[in-house]
Amino acid sequence: MKRHLISPSILTADFLHLERELEMINASEADLLHLDIMDGVFVPNLTFGFPVIRQIKSVAKKPLDVHLMIVDPDRYLKAYRDAGADWLTVHYETCTHLHRTIQKITELGMKPAVSVNPHTDVSLLEPILGDLNMVLIMTVNPGFGGQKFIQASYDKIRKLKQMITKGGYETLIQIDGGLTLENIDGLIDVGVDVFVVGNTIFAAENPTEVIQELKNR
Ligand code: DX5
Ligand code: ZN
Repeated sequence: MKRHLISPSILTADFLHLERELEMINASEADLLHLDIMDGVFVPNLTFGFPVIRQIKSVAKKPLDVHLMIVDPDRYLKAYRDAGADWLTVHYETCTHLHRTIQKITELGMKPAVSVNPHTDVSLLEPILGDLNMVLIMTVNPGFGGQKFIQASYDKIRKLKQMITKGGYETLIQIDGGLTLENIDGLIDVGVDVFVVGNTIFAAENPTEVIQELKNR
């Protein structure tokens, strides 16, 4: 059976000791490293830019799973690749020519993914599903860590899973927001492949143990 992947989000990590946090993730059973890029326009929050991503890349041993919450991401696709992104996610809501954007990400040598906000129907992705490495279903409204999981997400995940199975695609399903040790089992059952986890890891007393527990469910 295919095992699920864990992608820790450093959004709520200790930025005064970021190298220590990154080394903790390097030594853990995490599969990816999730970076949340926010522009203060698409979402009501700001995070970090290219110099910080480059520095993170110089320390990180896990592939960088970069989640762009920015308007008009086409302007920066190459810059994110050059800064070290391995997997690149753009939001459906930010791309006018999404098919072109996906082709460009692939041409640049990154694994392309598209994210949908809680109000966006996954059936909109049907025409491009076969071109995607992954679909990210936002299970909170993007912008902040530590929010509560939106229950209506289960139906969206089931619907997406059916679309992928029907099309015979390999596309992975990722969820982001509100993941806990309590709700992960049910989400594995409905077909989630990749879990972004912020607060549940970084608010814990022993983050390495939490990653291990999430990975071994
Ligand atoms: C929210 C970000 C998430 C966030 C998840 O906009 O995309 O990656 O860090 O954090 P938790 O797991 O705390 O909900
Ligand atoms: Zn994210």
